[in-house]
Amino acid sequence: MCGIVGFIGNQDAKEILLQGLEKLEYRGYDSAGIYIIDEANKGHLFKEKGRIAALREVVNNEVASSKGIGHTRWATHGVPSVRNAHPHQSTSGRFTLVHNGVIENYQAVSDAYLSGIELVSDTDTEVIVQLIAWFAEQEELSTLDAFKKAIVTLKGSYALALMDAENPDVIYVAKNKSPLLIGKGEDFNVVCSDAMAMIQVTNQFVELMDGEVVTVTKEQIEIENLAGDKIEREAYTAELDLNDIEKGTYAYYMLKEIDEQPAVMRKILQHYQNTEGQLEIDSVITETLLASDRVYIVACGTSYNAGWVGKQLIENLTNIPTEVHLSSEFGYNMPLLTEKPFFIFLTQSGETADSRQVLVKTNELGHPALTITNVQGSTLSREAQFTLLLHAGPEIAVASTKAYTAQIAVLAILAEVVGKSKGLASDVDMIHELGIVAAGMETIVDNKEYLEELAANYLSISRNAFYIGRGMDYYVAMEAALKLKEISYVQTEGFAAGELKHGTIALIEEGTPVLALITEESIAGHTRGNVEEVNSRGAHSLVIAMENVAREGDQFVLPQVHALLTPLISVIPTQLLSYYTSLHRGNDVDKPRNLAKSVTVE
Ligand code: M6R
Repeated sequence: MCGIVGFIGNQDAKEILLQGLEKLEYRGYDSAGIYIIDEANKGHLFKEKGRIAALREVVNNEVASSKGIGHTRWATHGVPSVRNAHPHQSTSGRFTLVHNGVIENYQAVSDAYLSGIELVSDTDTEVIVQLIAWFAEQEELSTLDAFKKAIVTLKGSYALALMDAENPDVIYVAKNKSPLLIGKGEDFNVVCSDAMAMIQVTNQFVELMDGEVVTVTKEQIEIENLAGDKIEREAYTAELDLNDIEKGTYAYYMLKEIDEQPAVMRKILQHYQNTEGQLEIDSVITETLLASDRVYIVACGTSYNAGWVGKQLIENLTNIPTEVHLSSEFGYNMPLLTEKPFFIFLTQSGETADSRQVLVKTNELGHPALTITNVQGSTLSREAQFTLLLHAGPEIAVASTKAYTAQIAVLAILAEVVGKSKGLASDVDMIHELGIVAAGMETIVDNKEYLEELAANYLSISRNAFYIGRGMDYYVAMEAALKLKEISYVQTEGFAAGELKHGTIALIEEGTPVLALITEESIAGHTRGNVEEVNSRGAHSLVIAMENVAREGDQFVLPQVHALLTPLISVIPTQLLSYYTSLHRGNDVDKPRNLAKSVTVE
């Protein structure tokens, strides 16, 4: 939610900031802006509604600059508009600020300090920059002290980058809850919400912690806490491959990421195998999990949907009861916990604020927590006792695809290793089975043209749709429905097939698309019965069935995989159906309306 960049050095800051913002567009894309200071120390502010491409149109290329800050926005306070786009400035124009996060007490701060100041936007961010100016100008504090005093006064989440026109060779930086990194270069330094934004200029990054303030010049990065104690911290090398973050020949990242899934399965197997070719997970994690009496999986959106499959895997392979919870509910509505709970936070980004607030609480309660994430060094990874990485490579499309299947694969490996160390007998050879899954995924992604036809026939003009299934297929139906609605805007429900007749079947009318997932022998007959029921009421049904339960006339047949791993296969055609439906409807597949990839507000 919102992306921040900053550059200070000897190169063309404008282009580096714009390219960095393009890489961060996944974090928000309703408006954007940059502030650069030219060689005569004059500040220039450019803002535009819409994408970075629109911002590029209004940036004056004549201005030469080697320092500045930039922002791409996902609106929280105030509609997307030039007025509300960042950077925001103090009335005098001296201070300029970009912000990611939400300031909870901005109204109270504004009432207490800024009554004489005319605010020109609807944002909480403008209050921050005006407050810094107030402390600097009314209380005659240095910029650093004014910045610190403002931070102490504010409540909420923030990543901030500030410039002072009277001291233009410094970028002031601070964070609380929202992510922010400093990148180190030769004769320059950078600021960014995600290493991806600046990987083209450096791979050396310094992590920041909440409560720290940093002054960044082209030569130095000085970190201190609010009491003024200096903090030394080594840079780490970001292991990001530039190819991973380029679209290459693909029209959209989503299709690239769907296609990458077989390779991701193999990469995960490689990462979790020891030199003897056995699956291995850090023994402290497995022992802690074994000592627990219940697993609580906490997650949002697609990760939550993966969590339900994880529950089946953990219960089947380890015999440990497992619950799945939405982060946004769990924090405020905590269920009665057992004596020895073990928490698993599933989060692709590792930055989701709803999940983080639960982790803060479980940490306070002293319960063990494992974050399963795609982003090394992310907030939830740093703050949980344990981390397992997805090794899926950066996922840039807002619609999550490869992270979903990677989460399931890592949970499967975890469950298998824990079950084995518990001495439970199992018929699953996970390395072999995940290998079969990877091959099966390949055959489906090779069948794109047919899935494009199905999308055109079934979904291109409908206003609503249903995915139905039972057991594992129900969990995949929930994910398939989320994927379809978020990028095609077709109102879709993922429904337990047997539950339709208890009310929702009233919505089925002539032509309503009902997509049924059928992979499990013992329940296939029942789901087929449910398909008959909707057909009798006019539904336009499409059956996606696994080889062992497929019948003539089914629209899509899935390659056979182990019963515990069917979601890894059955989800692939649903991802492609969503992709092509969105494409046919002329939507921006990677950047659906109203959304952002990384949801760092509660
Ligand atoms: O980064 P996270 O996995 O914690 O994100 C949670 C959800 O916001 C995310 O899974 C979202 O539902 C997907 N991008 C939808 O495709």
